Amino acid sequence: VIDVALTPAEASEADIAVVIDVLRATSTATQALAAGYESVLCAESIERALALRRPGRVLAGERHAIKPDGFDQGNSPFEAAYLRGRHLVLATTNGSRAAVDAARNCRRVLLACLLNLSAIVDTLIAGPDLDAQRVQLVCAGSHGALALEDVYVAGRIAELLPGPRTEAAEVAVSVVHRWRAPLEALDASANAATLRRLGLTADVTYCAMESQLDAVGEMRAVGDGVVAVCNIGRSATLKRLAVLDSRGTLGA
Ligand code: MLT
Repeated sequence: VIDVALTPAEASEADIAVVIDVLRATSTATQALAAGYESVLCAESIERALALRRPGRVLAGERHAIKPDGFDQGNSPFEAAYLRGRHLVLATTNGSRAAVDAARNCRRVLLACLLNLSAIVDTLIAGPDLDAQRVQLVCAGSHGALALEDVYVAGRIAELLPGPRTEAAEVAVSVVHRWRAPLEALDASANAATLRRLGLTADVTYCAMESQLDAVGEMRAVGDGVVAVCNIGRSATLKRLAVLDSRGTLGA
């Protein structure tokens, strides 16, 4: 069954959670993995991210769309495209937190955006027995509220997956047909307006490009307020979860 959590509050137990924050957290995480970061450590808060600082880790994120004090870079996919360390620690208002929350409810957690649209769909279809799984596309939203651009991307994914859909998934699919192109849908969102106001229009344009990257981030390890996501490429599946120790070190 393909379900959509239109807001983070609707997220529930599922076999697979696919977290979507197209503007910009999951786009940035996917871009970082495509650039060659070994993992993206999604942190639930700025404080958690700062506590994860170690040599070889790059701190990225935002508050009100701007780089937080003490961070190395913002939440732009363009910044994430430059490999500046081995691991990217990512702390954002909605997206990285949604990934941490999804890890509490679901055995598998994947990160999706438009940049990896076909790769994420291929990964889900190639995974074991999709028909028997409950897949929930989790829209990270904006401060708990619905974000149009995330619902649009959930609809794009839902319409490409086989299998029955819940009513929430049908709603997301119907949103897709309201727009002629992804950029139109993203541009109509409040989050895009904020980014444009800050001179980050290019981020919106880039995040609206579909199926540009083969990278697919999947939860590899969980720790206190942090989830490590690694690139599983197009079809690989991870066999087991590791545990992050208190310093956020990825176990063997
Ligand atoms: C978030 O997680 O809230 C976003 O990705 C916000 C942003 O990119 O500025």
